[in-house]
Amino acid sequence: MTVSSARRRPPIPRQVSAAIRELLHRLDRAEQLHASDVSFYALMIGESLDLSPDLIRQISCGALLHDIGKIAIPLGDRDHSGAMTAVERLNMLTHPEVGEAMVSVHPPLAPFADLVRHHHERFDGHGYPDGLAGGAIPIGAAVLAISEAFATMITEQPYRHARTWHQALDEIRRGSGTQFHPVVAETFLIALGEDPTPIGG
Ligand SMILES: [Fe+2]
Repeated sequence: MTVSSARRRPPIPRQVSAAIRELLHRLDRAEQLHASDVSFYALMIGESLDLSPDLIRQISCGALLHDIGKIAIPLGDRDHSGAMTAVERLNMLTHPEVGEAMVSVHPPLAPFADLVRHHHERFDGHGYPDGLAGGAIPIGAAVLAISEAFATMITEQPYRHARTWHQALDEIRRGSGTQFHPVVAETFLIALGEDPTPIGG
């Protein structure tokens, strides 16, 4: 973040930061760290895309809240080393909608509800909860999708080892235009000093 962009971006109102803090306290430590990681990458991408200061602020706040719906999922369902059962997987798929509902009831957080709902949509329309595709996906949600995927891949998980930085970047490259918005993916890769050329391209 440059000094000039920090000056341009409007500060986060106190009632917004207080409401975010109140919700984040309900997440476990690993999820809090994940939220913070995702917000870091989302901010970097938002600035690299030269989005408006308001939208960048919205994306970084939305990033902190994106997985808040997981607090409704029993810890045992999402924090074990084996593969998820079908029921656990179905439960997990509800977290964007649950999160949207939780965020919507806090008036200062309502502007972030859409980002929370759509952070698992895929560019090719095979994501959830609404199967939105391409430009129908809010750009902020497309930024969160890449930020979350990358942050998750490079972090040790109960069910698999962390990927290396380069393995994770290859996954982003491979998913550009299918899982991920291609412009957002390219921007992310360039921001990290990577060649954005798709694999096989
Ligand atoms: Fe998520």
